Amino acid sequence: MSIPKHVAIILDGNGRWAKKRLLPRKAGHVAGAKTVEQICEDAWNLGIKYLTVYAFSTENWSRPQDEVDALMKLLGKYLVDCIERSMKNDMRVKVIGDKTGLDPELVKKINELEKVTDNNQGLNFIIALNYGSRDEIVRATNRICADYKDGKISEVTADILSDYLDTKGIPDPDLLIRTSGEERLSNFLLWQLAYTEFYFTDVLWPDFNKKELEKAIDYYNGKDRRFGGVKNK
Ligand code: IPE
Ligand code: IPE
Ligand code: MG
Repeated sequence: MSIPKHVAIILDGNGRWAKKRLLPRKAGHVAGAKTVEQICEDAWNLGIKYLTVYAFSTENWSRPQDEVDALMKLLGKYLVDCIERSMKNDMRVKVIGDKTGLDPELVKKINELEKVTDNNQGLNFIIALNYGSRDEIVRATNRICADYKDGKISEVTADILSDYLDTKGIPDPDLLIRTSGEERLSNFLLWQLAYTEFYFTDVLWPDFNKKELEKAIDYYNGKDRRFGGVKNK
């Protein structure tokens, strides 16, 4: 059994999970946050080294203000709780996305979390927050232009571009999972997913668990990753 080194997850279906139970959407996000906590432990126990979750997209600001407020409040609490859990589980946390678009109080929490977990040796847990792949590529391109103008770089290669992305130093995902039956990327890691295997499931994110993660890994194991070459099974 081959375990993917890096698993990326588009956690989707919190709202529908809540609706099915006649609960407000916010309750779905609370349940979804608990699932994230559990999946971090399960992923590490299965041998996964990097786990990236899509928590809030650059497009999610278009949701009703009360839902955005609830999500930001929940994220703030999550980031604080995450410090204690990360120290217990030896987890190293990094946040990707545009921090300049976030509340300064939230940014403080992110910086603190990244700083105190920086030397941890367990799971590399990456949270995509105010993240959009097009936005990331645009921000990278602007920094490349500035550095080119300043003579800091003389050319642009794929490796150099990768180093300007928020995911610098993180290997590309081997497996992408999206829950809730949607089969689209919604502006997630467009560059990094070039050769990733995709697994879609109808399970709503709050119901996702270790067994579902194992199913995704089973699916991954049935794939013949050719990276453009030729290989017989
Ligand atoms: C995913 O669940 C969580 C976020 C995008 C923050 P949704 O909130 O998108 O749930 P559905 O898709 O409406 O069911
Ligand atoms: C993608 O889910 C974003 C996150 C999981 C944070 P959405 O629910 O926002 O995506 P769409 O709108 O269905 O494409
Ligand atoms: Mg959704």
